[in-house]
Amino acid sequence: MSETATADAATDGFPVPKGVFAEKVLSVQHYTDRLFRFRMTRPQSFRFRSGEFVMIGLPNAERPVFRAYSIASPAWDEELEFYSIKVPDGPLTEHLQKVQPGDTVLMRKKPVGTLVHDALLGGERLYMFSTGTGIAPFASVIRDPETYERFAQVILIHTCREAGELTYGHDLVAATRADPLVGEEASAQLVHYATTTRETTDRMGRITTLIESGKLFADLGVPPLDPATDRAMICGSMDMLKDVKAICEGAGLVEGSNSQPGQFVVERAFVD
Ligand code: A2P
Repeated sequence: MSETATADAATDGFPVPKGVFAEKVLSVQHYTDRLFRFRMTRPQSFRFRSGEFVMIGLPNAERPVFRAYSIASPAWDEELEFYSIKVPDGPLTEHLQKVQPGDTVLMRKKPVGTLVHDALLGGERLYMFSTGTGIAPFASVIRDPETYERFAQVILIHTCREAGELTYGHDLVAATRADPLVGEEASAQLVHYATTTRETTDRMGRITTLIESGKLFADLGVPPLDPATDRAMICGSMDMLKDVKAICEGAGLVEGSNSQPGQFVVERAFVD
């Protein structure tokens, strides 16, 4: 469908706005009453870098609501995946959480973002710090072969309130380790460190606390954050970003951007 889509049954009679792809939902999986993912067709002409986000909407109005969503699939994948929170009365997610295979989802054509290799200097170890749906861009990055070429060790950190909210990450890491393209590298180089804060599990605590106490590094058997060797990508709520960014800066890491690569990069997990 992509660029040729027009106002029809697939868009409930609404026109597809200019500069927008209209794609078909392929599958939907609900993880908890707050979290779900969906996969959809990828327009042939759509190119993006692993870790970027796009604006997503639904064909349910003349001027549909769009929200930023990290692409949770790697740049080589034929389909696109998104991982979403369900916000009660959220202008987009209240409808998006109801999509079914065959439904149409709108996507603006231009991907953007800073959680990309271009914004990071090379190093030995890549930390990906995430909370909640902030894991989505890292679902893309950990399936990109470049990640394993650039970093000897790739550490995915995910903190959620409850154990059920970690399922997406556990499934993702298992699928990545079994993947024909990056499975061998991921099995050897990827470490998954998942914690909860409100439900008792084997591993608990906010990532900020675990860094400050040194427990994270002791558990991983690595030295503390070091700008000479370590790089970081951060994605979560505004408060989490602020706090983890301060920790990275305190350790001497310098923030990077697409125009000036650095030692860590930050992106907000957008929908709230
Ligand atoms: P907590 O349960 O202690 O608030 P949310 O669902 O609110 O986005 O939170 C997702 C996870 O992020 C929760 O485990 C939450 O811990 C944690 N979190 C929230 N704020 C911060 C922060 N400033 N630094 C680190 N972790 C945080």
